[in-house]
Amino acid sequence: MIDLINNLTEEINSLTAHDTQAAEALRIKYLGKKGVITALFNDFKNLDSDQKRALGQPLNALKNLAADKINALKEAASVAPDESVAGIDLSRTAAPMPLGSRHPITLVRNEITDIFGRLGFTIAEGPEIEDDWHVFSALNFAEDHPARDMQDTFFIGRNPDVLLRTHTSSVQARVMEHTQPPIRIICPGRVYRNEAISARAHCFFHQVEALYVDTNVSYADLRQTLMYFAQEMFGPDTRIRLRPSYFPFTEPSAEMDISCNLCGGKGCSFCKHTGWVEILGCGMVDPNVLDACGIDSSKYSGFALGMGIERITNLKYQVKDLRMFSENDKRFLEEFTSAH
Ligand code: DAH
Repeated sequence: MIDLINNLTEEINSLTAHDTQAAEALRIKYLGKKGVITALFNDFKNLDSDQKRALGQPLNALKNLAADKINALKEAASVAPDESVAGIDLSRTAAPMPLGSRHPITLVRNEITDIFGRLGFTIAEGPEIEDDWHVFSALNFAEDHPARDMQDTFFIGRNPDVLLRTHTSSVQARVMEHTQPPIRIICPGRVYRNEAISARAHCFFHQVEALYVDTNVSYADLRQTLMYFAQEMFGPDTRIRLRPSYFPFTEPSAEMDISCNLCGGKGCSFCKHTGWVEILGCGMVDPNVLDACGIDSSKYSGFALGMGIERITNLKYQVKDLRMFSENDKRFLEEFTSAH
């Protein structure tokens, strides 16, 4: 009988049950009225007293082991499965999340600020709701100068001193007011003009302004900076040309053309068969502007330049209609998913 008890002990230790029904079946098999262990107890009654003394304790231990083990199996099988993960395959790979893409204006803005960043320019920002001083007066626009009409201004309410900035040149004025040279800043931002919306004009668009003020800043520095920018932005074969122009805040002033990046300068419908496309305005900061902003114009000189981000983006990606930039048409935006 002792061999039987030992074998059963081993058997019971390795019992498993997937559910409570299976555990109950095990209870009946071992401990039920006709169970294996119950039968052993019946046999035990007929043993002589020496055998009883030797086997009583192991037999009781076997019975307790079986009862404990089967109870434990019942308990484990009756724990309710976690509702929140029921029916969910936690080992499955996650469904791919559709990635958004950067707006083309953002992509080009970042590219421009990166290029100037490599030359040591840092980003400066200013408010979109401005006053007359920072947008016009500090920048040498005379009170009755027709140049104020060049930029159709949105005024806020009836106060002529509260307006939406028409260019990011206002940020130059703000920075110069509280910083002494050397100043090397790049100012990206949104600007507003009261224009009828069409494929070629919009009432808001984006500009980047650059300003460099220090001792001995010359026109040659401006030209070299422009050359570097154009070739970094449009490729090493790009040529530039500067045409004399007029802005109230620069003297002399110029507009910069680059060799048409679509036809390489040979002439096409995009460049109106001239081989050149205009991309920005620039010049040497007018001494009046330096003085108005608290910088000694007898000691310092500087250059400034400003460009429309939409214009650069059109050249890079051939977007024909300005309105596409603000319509948020997903088909248009998704075209820039792989651009960085
Ligand atoms: N602010 C000018 C505009 O909106 C662009 C510009 C031209 C900026 C010449 C400059 C500059 O800094 O030197 O049309």
